[in-house]
Order: sequence, then structure tokens, then C-alpha cells
Amino acid sequence: MDLETLRAQCLNCTRCELCQTRTNVVFGQGASDAEVLFVGEGPGQSEDEQGLPFVGRSGQLLDKYLFAIDLDRNRNCYIANIVKCRPPKNRDPMPAESEACMPWLREQFRILRPKIVVCLGRIAAQRMIDKNFSVTRSHGQFIQKGGIYFMATYHPAALLRQPQNKPEAFGDFAALREKILEVCTHTY
Ligand code: URA
Ligand code: SF4
Repeated sequence: MDLETLRAQCLNCTRCELCQTRTNVVFGQGASDAEVLFVGEGPGQSEDEQGLPFVGRSGQLLDKYLFAIDLDRNRNCYIANIVKCRPPKNRDPMPAESEACMPWLREQFRILRPKIVVCLGRIAAQRMIDKNFSVTRSHGQFIQKGGIYFMATYHPAALLRQPQNKPEAFGDFAALREKILEVCTHTY
């Protein structure tokens, strides 16, 4: 199965109640041969309206960080979320919703086989790395699991609220660039 076939299936998903309030399913966006996968929390309002991940204000900031290390969502990385449908009023996804949606992300993993996964914020980090993960304490650290390098950094929306953390986030992206140079074959 390829990503576009999986997307077509996901667009019809009714596995959790978020299907009732969504405008669009936000499946993901990026290169089909991406070696670097970014995982956010879930769509916000702009993403729900456009059906694409990280296209609002936090997405603009994310694109700047990507650009700084020669990544481009249309060329050499992929962006997905833990839940594919917007939680009402941007509340955190409920555990049952994340669980219901994980099979889609697992299939995205199986198809892409990323070398590096970058979790954007606590929700993704706690689901993908460790249920007690602290972004403040452990951002920028790579952990190898099943042959994949996982790292978490600040969610761009958190950086908009707390710009004092931007230098640390920039450091995480610099570390990501080094890891890409080390383990990726065709990202750069
Ligand atoms: N925040 C997220 O976590 N994901 C998006 O796609 C947009 C904003
Ligand atoms: Fe399906 Fe995920 Fe949307 Fe729930 S959030 S309806 S599981 S795609």
C-alpha cells in the first residue's frame, strides 16, 4: 500500500467521535520518500479548514525552522499528527481518541520507514517516546528505538506563547541537522 491509498481510506474514518465535528481529515503532508517524520498533536482550526498539517501561525514558524536546516515539507520530510481530526476548541486529544487514531500513524510509519522521528510538543512525545516525557527536561535528546531515532522539541504553538524558548528550539533543529547528516542517505 502507498501513502495516497492510505490517505483515501483515512479520509472516510469514523473510528472516533472527532469525525462528527471535523471539516477535513488532516492525514499528513510531505515527500513519499521522506527519512525524517515530524509528528504533531492534532489539527487546529486552519488545518481543519485546509486539510493540511501545520498551516496556521504555528505552521509558519515550523516552516522557518525547517528552512533553517534545509528541510522542506514538499521535498525532503513528512509532517503528520497523532490525531487526524481537530479536537473541538483545540482541547488535548483524549486518550481514547489517540488510541483510535494510532493505527493510521502506524501505517504511515510502515510505509515511510523514517530514520528519524521528531515529536512536536508533549502530546506527541508522551505518545511516541515515553508516557512521562518532559519536553522542558529532555528536548533535543535522541533516543534509539527499534532502529529509529526519536527526538522531541517544543511545539511551535508553545514557542509563539513563550518565545524565550526559541534559542533552545533552534539548538534542537541544529542537532537534528547533525543527526540527518549521520544517518540519512538522501535527505540532503
Ligand atoms: N498543531 C498541531 O499539533 N498539529 C497541526 O497540524 C497544527 C497545529
Ligand atoms: Fe478517525 Fe483519527 Fe479522525 Fe478519529 S481522529 S475519526 S480515529 S481519523
